[in-house]
Amino acid sequence: MKMKLISKNNFIPVNVPKIFKEEKKYVKKCLDTGWISSEGEYVKKFEKDFSRYNKRIYGIAVSSGTAALDIAIKSLNLKKGDEVIIPAFSIISTALCVIKLGLKPILIDSNLKNWNMDVEQVLNKISKKTKAIIITHIYGFPVDMNKILQVAKKKKIKVIEDAAEMIGQTYFGRMCGSFGDISIFSFYANKHITTGEGGMILTNNKKLYSKCKSLRNLCFGVGKNRFNHDDIGWNYRMTNMQAAVGCGQLKNIKCIIKRKKQIGRKYISILKKSDKIEIQIAKLKYSENIFWVFGVLLKKNIKISRDQIVNKLLKHNIQTRNFFIPMHKQKIFQKMKIFNKKQKFKNSEQLSKNGFYLPSGLAISNKEIDFVGNTLLKILQNKK
Ligand SMILES: Cc1ncc(COP(=O)(O)O)c(C=O)c1O
Repeated sequence: MKMKLISKNNFIPVNVPKIFKEEKKYVKKCLDTGWISSEGEYVKKFEKDFSRYNKRIYGIAVSSGTAALDIAIKSLNLKKGDEVIIPAFSIISTALCVIKLGLKPILIDSNLKNWNMDVEQVLNKISKKTKAIIITHIYGFPVDMNKILQVAKKKKIKVIEDAAEMIGQTYFGRMCGSFGDISIFSFYANKHITTGEGGMILTNNKKLYSKCKSLRNLCFGVGKNRFNHDDIGWNYRMTNMQAAVGCGQLKNIKCIIKRKKQIGRKYISILKKSDKIEIQIAKLKYSENIFWVFGVLLKKNIKISRDQIVNKLLKHNIQTRNFFIPMHKQKIFQKMKIFNKKQKFKNSEQLSKNGFYLPSGLAISNKEIDFVGNTLLKILQNKK
């Protein structure tokens, strides 16, 4: 993939997506033919191509990954008060979809090896009240999920696989997003393939598929009863233009994954020289890192803080993004008293306090990666 330096005034944004020629051609076709709403050939094509790519039968394209989570969890038909296991360290959407339905989120701390939800803790927190688990893969590696899937199957607990950050990733050779009852993806501009904003739900279950399709589209009635609605749904539709972008991106998925791996490995080759940080690794026994982003975690007891480092990077025109704030630390959830104040999630807190990620969008050049990595090294050595 050819890369050019696209940042203006030498500013390196945390993410710049890569748009290929196919997307422009397909979007032009939508505009030229007037098919710009959610009706139109590209929505269906994107659903078909994306579900086939991920080895699932059905795909439902929606307006965001958050919308996909809302729909996926509602489609499971759980009862108020049912417990749903989720990671403490993830985007707030994971807890929101549970809380909005009156379900009870049970938090799991991260492991510090790959920053994903800790598998042993998931198994320990499964109780009679557990009705669903959202397995959420974070930053580049999937959760080592075999045991969780086995136990969930045995106990008839529903599994939603949140593969928002994991487009094109595999787990023991099988596509992420093909596990559990239902899975979701995000196509926000910083995802491996983007539609600007967007998301997808995948499942092999025909009933869940029909329910999700209905929930995406205000649960319209059938035939003459069109405007007499069956349930409380949303308008979470994806437009034909967004899907057109998705179709173009998906055509380029192989070189996207290849380039993402190169970006990650290049950062590793520079940053492994520092003993002050933990960085993402390239391989685990079940997966190769696809580096959704390139994350950096400051080791404990180093003299400079994360905020000082990211401010210094910004002074050198390098934008970064801090890691997520864990669910139990979210001010809205504290105000709502959703989580027990005494519960501690030490690793999630450490990640949140000391973690950030570097510019790692697809359009970054090798020269920019060198500059970012070496500037960070110098800051850590107190030379900048
Ligand atoms: C793990 C995870 N799930 C869900 C989402 C929500 O996706 P969206 O931003 O498209 O709503 C994100 C967003 O980054 C995410 O990282």
